Amino acid sequence: SGYLAANESFGVAVQQEVSVSKEVTVLYGSQTGNAQKLAEKAGEVLKHRGFHVTVSSMLDFKPNELKKINTLLIVVSTYGEGEPPDNALSFYEFLHSKRAPKLDHLRFSVLALGDTSYEHFCKTGKDFDKRLEELGGKRLYERVDCDVDYEEAAAKWLTGVLNELDKQGTVSVAAPQPTQAQPTALYSRKHPFEAEVLENINLNGRGSNKETRHIELSLEGSGLTFEPGDALGVFPKNDPELVDLIIQEMKWNPATPVSVEEKEEPLREALISHLEITVLSEQLLQAFASFSHNQAFHAFLSVEQEAKRKDYMKGRDVLDVLRDFGPWEMTPEQFVSSLRKLQPRFYSIASSLLAYPEEVHITVGAVRYEAHGRLRKGVCSTFCAERLQIGDKLPVFVHHNPNFKLPKDANTPIIMIGPGTGVAPFRSFLQEREAIGAKGKSWLFFGDQHFVTDFLYQTEWQTWLKNGVLTKMDVAFSRDTKEKVYVQHRMLEQRKELFRWLEEGAAIYVCGDKQRMARDVHETLIHIVAQEGNMTREQAEAYIAEMQKQKRYQRDVY
Ligand code: 2AM
Repeated sequence: SGYLAANESFGVAVQQEVSVSKEVTVLYGSQTGNAQKLAEKAGEVLKHRGFHVTVSSMLDFKPNELKKINTLLIVVSTYGEGEPPDNALSFYEFLHSKRAPKLDHLRFSVLALGDTSYEHFCKTGKDFDKRLEELGGKRLYERVDCDVDYEEAAAKWLTGVLNELDKQGTVSVAAPQPTQAQPTALYSRKHPFEAEVLENINLNGRGSNKETRHIELSLEGSGLTFEPGDALGVFPKNDPELVDLIIQEMKWNPATPVSVEEKEEPLREALISHLEITVLSEQLLQAFASFSHNQAFHAFLSVEQEAKRKDYMKGRDVLDVLRDFGPWEMTPEQFVSSLRKLQPRFYSIASSLLAYPEEVHITVGAVRYEAHGRLRKGVCSTFCAERLQIGDKLPVFVHHNPNFKLPKDANTPIIMIGPGTGVAPFRSFLQEREAIGAKGKSWLFFGDQHFVTDFLYQTEWQTWLKNGVLTKMDVAFSRDTKEKVYVQHRMLEQRKELFRWLEEGAAIYVCGDKQRMARDVHETLIHIVAQEGNMTREQAEAYIAEMQKQKRYQRDVY
């Protein structure tokens, strides 16, 4: 090949260059483990092709190394409102700061994970891609942005990257070895297990504002396993009442056959079981453009009205669009092919296999609220609350989360902060620690609205407090007193002891609401460390960042 000829004629100098460029660094930023798994997979494939590969979390990567490497692959997800994952944050900030080095020597490619139903789709990946170019890097292969079903796009990206590496003269010396067959789980997102419902009860007492379901499922015969901190993917069904309203609005026949994933099904069944009808996206609105002559709708879809659209999409669903922008010239088939496939919802697992072999428990808060004149319902949570009976089969799969794991050393003290349904994984943690006879101290902060009706799993915590599995518990019931008390207020009250635990090497876990709770808890932690450790804010932030690096501060927030 041309490459070999060049190599021969230029001798040693090129040889050296080749050996340098055979180094590939794969960095990932991952909140729930998907980006990490893809990065590790890419690393494996590259190794088999004879590359010297370093795969690392952005958090563990020393930014100074950037100057020494010449091929960088980035796999990163975006979470919440366009934010980088926790373990990508410091690297992201470094790259976007004035301290970032010139990267003229670097070639790179970015694989971005995201979700098209969010406004800031793949923002973190896009930012890295743009910034690396600004710093002088050469794009080895175009960035690929993945939606929730990322496998295919990710494979395409990796193939593209490999082709470019080959083309650009880093042909592998070692013959490509066949990739070892991974022992793949029988059941996965693509092929979920039909788990029998063993229990489904409301944990809240009468008169509560909330409905929180405790659901126990059988994993018997599935071979599925998990560890505390992992999540369960659940495929829900849509509300038949909402589906019927859509069909009535369009004056369609519910039995009309439509095709979903190459199979024919009656329209009503397809909408209940296979298609997303409660989440609006820019893509969906634009897809509807060809089915309406409504001038107002077309104006609404214009670039000028982008802000208005974003606002409109909040708290509205497909039925709103159909009602607000008719008349439509749309067949059931066209409608169905515009919609996204119904996605699984993820719940932090609330049990341990050591305590409940061949079972998995989840804690599901029913989401119901009034918006734009209609009662809105969370798809999966209200499906579980209203239509899931004992004996039913629920399609599930396990999502392993490497970023929310008990300390390897069972002597390490743990501090768990989990208001509301955020307490779920800590039930799993304590079941596990009880089963293995862990010696480490443990401390749980729990909060909810009312002591009498909302103290989730109250008797279980009390039993563990008695038998010593749980060392300490602080609760914050926000609506029992005139002034609201939240978990972070309890943390603040306990700041001396809390800091002492941190100094003893405790690991902190936060699970639950991300937008407000996790943010406020984070602030409180910085505050406590600064005050109790006599540090400046910057020093306290560095202390927390160091904990994060040591995996002693982990979050499972949503
Ligand atoms: P609230 O609903 O009374 O405001 C679980 O949902 C608990 O978390 C509730 O007691 C809720 O209180 C509380 N909560 C709401 N916002 C919070 C925040 N920013 N930080 C901590 N807890 C919060």
